[in-house]
Amino acid sequence: MATDRRNFIKKTAMALAAIPVLSSPLRLLADDTNNQNKMKKIMLIDGGPRRNMNTAAMLESFAQGAREAGAEATVVRLYDIDYKGCRSCMACKLKGKASNVCKIKDDLAPVLDEISQADGLVLGSPIYFGDVTGQMRTFLERLAFPWLSYNDYSMTAPKRMPVVLIETMNGTPQRNNSQGYGSMEYCIATALGQPEHIVAYNTYQVKNYDNYELAGFSEEAKRKWRDEYWEQDLKKAFDAGKRMAEQIVP
Ligand SMILES: Cc1cc2nc3c(=O)[nH]c(=O)nc-3n(C[C@H](O)[C@H](O)[C@H](O)COP(=O)(O)O)c2cc1C
Repeated sequence: MATDRRNFIKKTAMALAAIPVLSSPLRLLADDTNNQNKMKKIMLIDGGPRRNMNTAAMLESFAQGAREAGAEATVVRLYDIDYKGCRSCMACKLKGKASNVCKIKDDLAPVLDEISQADGLVLGSPIYFGDVTGQMRTFLERLAFPWLSYNDYSMTAPKRMPVVLIETMNGTPQRNNSQGYGSMEYCIATALGQPEHIVAYNTYQVKNYDNYELAGFSEEAKRKWRDEYWEQDLKKAFDAGKRMAEQIVP
């Protein structure tokens, strides 16, 4: 078991080392020629259930920054669409028909298709019990399993692109239990590119703490934190959106 795991890590590291060859200047030149008239397209995936709270606000701020820099930014709310995680149907690994985009036809299919052709990807999730939400995790299974080759354990997405991972949580930089995107981060880094991280800590979980049994939190301390950091967090997201759009060569 331990040997299998070591072999897997070794083979994936070798695949990672081979990436500069695939991204040679000639290849970039060819991509540029094909994309000359295309608008820069950034896909934002919201793995949180609440429309107007912290994660949604961070993603919207990122989208605004990207739009200001001339990109098309599309936000997809995972809780609004009907899909399940990987079904292990193995359709993406069929001999002669293997695909690095999931073959299941449901509401997630057009989203995965758009991501495969996008120029940038942003994932946002609240932290639930130390991890991203279940909805984000099932999305990531569908995104990443088709990238993985069981022939040589390489990880290949249809297209490499800049990626930003956003987390929002109750924890603070000094005291938090977040594993973030966990094992999926390795797949993302290998197949798409090394992600940038943006974290909004110690978020306001409800609009009015007086209405809930939340004695474990001091609303005063939360308010102080929010006044000091929330606008900065939104600005970090906005600036990252602008940067991503600017770094994409159309
Ligand atoms: C089911 C659930 C589990 C949570 N678990 C954690 C946790 O393990 N660590 C943490 O720091 N915050 C945790 N939180 C707090 C949320 O991560 C935090 O409030 C987040 O900013 C909510 O995002 P939203 O406002 O976009 O919904 C949890 C919240 C819920 C509802």
